Amino acid sequence: MKKLIVANWKLNPESAKAAESLARLEDRSGVVICPPTIYLAPLKKVLKRAKLGAQDAFWIEEGPYTGAVSPSQLVDLGVKYVIIGHSERRYLLQESDEVINQKVETALKAGLQVILCIGEDLESHEKGSDQTRLFIVDQLGRALKNVKSKYFKNIVIAYEPVWAISTSNSGLEDAPDESKKIISLIKTFLKKRYLMHNPRVMYGGSVNAENFDEYLADDLIDGVLVGSASLNPREFNKIQT
Ligand code: PGA
Repeated sequence: MKKLIVANWKLNPESAKAAESLARLEDRSGVVICPPTIYLAPLKKVLKRAKLGAQDAFWIEEGPYTGAVSPSQLVDLGVKYVIIGHSERRYLLQESDEVINQKVETALKAGLQVILCIGEDLESHEKGSDQTRLFIVDQLGRALKNVKSKYFKNIVIAYEPVWAISTSNSGLEDAPDESKKIISLIKTFLKKRYLMHNPRVMYGGSVNAENFDEYLADDLIDGVLVGSASLNPREFNKIQT
C-alpha cells in the first residue's frame, strides 16, 4: 500500500483565502490535507488530487452537543480521513482514552479512515524504553477496545512521541532508529493482539524536508504526519514517498 503524507495544519492559517491558496499549492496525490474544520467545505472545492481529512470528530452522531461535528457530517462533506487522539487534544482538552475509543468507533462506523495518534509523554520517555513500551501498548489497547476487526483496514496508527512534536518545546529531537524500534513493536503488538494482517503505522513529530527520508526510506514506516512543515508549501512538497 502506498505511503501517506498527512498535513496537519492545526489552527492555521488565519483566513479561508489563505487556506485555499495553501491547499492549491499542496494539492498532490498521496497527500491528505487536514485543515481546521471551518475550511473543510471551501477546500473540498479546491482540492483535485489530495484527500481531505478532519482534525477531530465527535463521538456521538447527533443530539444536543453544542459545537460538535459528527463523523457522518464529515463524510457528507466528502471528508475521507479523521485524526483522532492527537496529543494536543489529549493534553490541552483532557480527552480521555475512553472518549478517544468512542471517537474511533463512531468515525469507523460512519465510513471514515481513522488516523489514530498515540505516543508517550516526556516523563515516560525519560524513564527509558521499557516504560515507553508499556505506555504505548496501554494507550493502543484502550483506544482500540471493542473495535470490530472488520474496521481494522480503515485504521492507520500515527506514532507521535509527544516530546518530539515541534510545539512541545522539549528541546529534544527524536532519533529515527528509536522510533523505528517503537513502530516495529506497535506492528508486532497489533498483529499478535488483534490479529491484524498488515497494520499500518506512520510517524509524526517535527518531520520536515530534511529528515523525512530517514523515516520513509525503508518499508517499515507507512507515512508521515507533518505539522509545522505543512504550513510551508515549498518545504512540504519536498516531502515525497
Ligand atoms: P510537528 O507536528 O510536525 O509540528 O511536530 C506534528 C503533529 O503534531 O501532528
